[in-house]
Amino acid sequence: MPVSFNLDFIAVTESAALEAAKWVGKGDRNGADQAACEGMRRVLNEIEMRGVICIGEGERDEAPMLYIGEEVGTGEGEQVMIAVDPLEGTNLCANGTPNAIAVLAAAQVGKGKLMAAPDCYMDKLVVGAECRGVVDITLPPRMNVRLMAKALGKDVSEVTIGILDRPRHEKLIAEIRDAGARVQLISDGDLSVAIAALDPNSGTDALMGMGGAPEGVITAAAVLCWGGEMQARLSFPREGQRERAAKMVEGDLDRVFHTEDLASGEVIFAATGITQGDMLKGVRYGRGYAITESIVMRSAQGLIRRTETMHLDHA
Ligand code: FBP
Repeated sequence: MPVSFNLDFIAVTESAALEAAKWVGKGDRNGADQAACEGMRRVLNEIEMRGVICIGEGERDEAPMLYIGEEVGTGEGEQVMIAVDPLEGTNLCANGTPNAIAVLAAAQVGKGKLMAAPDCYMDKLVVGAECRGVVDITLPPRMNVRLMAKALGKDVSEVTIGILDRPRHEKLIAEIRDAGARVQLISDGDLSVAIAALDPNSGTDALMGMGGAPEGVITAAAVLCWGGEMQARLSFPREGQRERAAKMVEGDLDRVFHTEDLASGEVIFAATGITQGDMLKGVRYGRGYAITESIVMRSAQGLIRRTETMHLDHA
């Protein structure tokens, strides 16, 4: 993929973040999501590429824009698969709480791949590079916590696991606490916490538990770039989800998916903070300008770059 894509894709998540930021704390998750989608799509369409949305806002008949299969870009240049989440953490944005981000992953057709994830749940285990090859999602969580502590050279009591605060995770949370480790409960936004788990300085050592499968694939792109490890299993709580997944995903749907089953080869991951976050600062305003913070990662270059941008036309 052209090196210029690094900056191009940052501009895309910046645009989504700037639009969503106008809705922070307004209590309107749909309004915020729509604004983020419009902002993202506008800039995606300025990039010289033949892009196709592989993960987006839903099927063509249920999403007016950034639907699966929508063609984006100028229609010239490289063929690129794009997985988008213009507003990851719609409630976080609507409630003005931390860690709402705009995010995307991209892969050039023939050089990289992103799994076309169905709209279902995914049980996720994400760890940073120091725990790569150490954990196993099929083991009881208490064992993974012990294995992680050993690999990190920490006491189990110092290991912190990020988990979505949901009734379905009651047993998981209890087991991790019984093992002596710490649980960082999050109200929404497991993608941000997974990225934090990749960063050795974040204070979060792993993400565990069930969240959205589309978010899981975008997470895997970041894991691939950062050199961590992701293991996942699909889950189909709603009627029709398994049948739909069977049409989109090759092979056994009940298998363990590893990082490279979800994202492989040359991929780019880009994200911009909307509300103040652990990984990224939110959109901030000065007199006549806005400032965004973004991160871009690229697997082929082994590159993780943070950028701060001043937008003079966004007061
Ligand atoms: P949205 O931005 O689409 O609201 O998703 C937020 C999120 O918390 C994701 O980070 C997570 O993967 C998923 O929702 C969890 O789903 P649920 O709220 O159904 O448990």
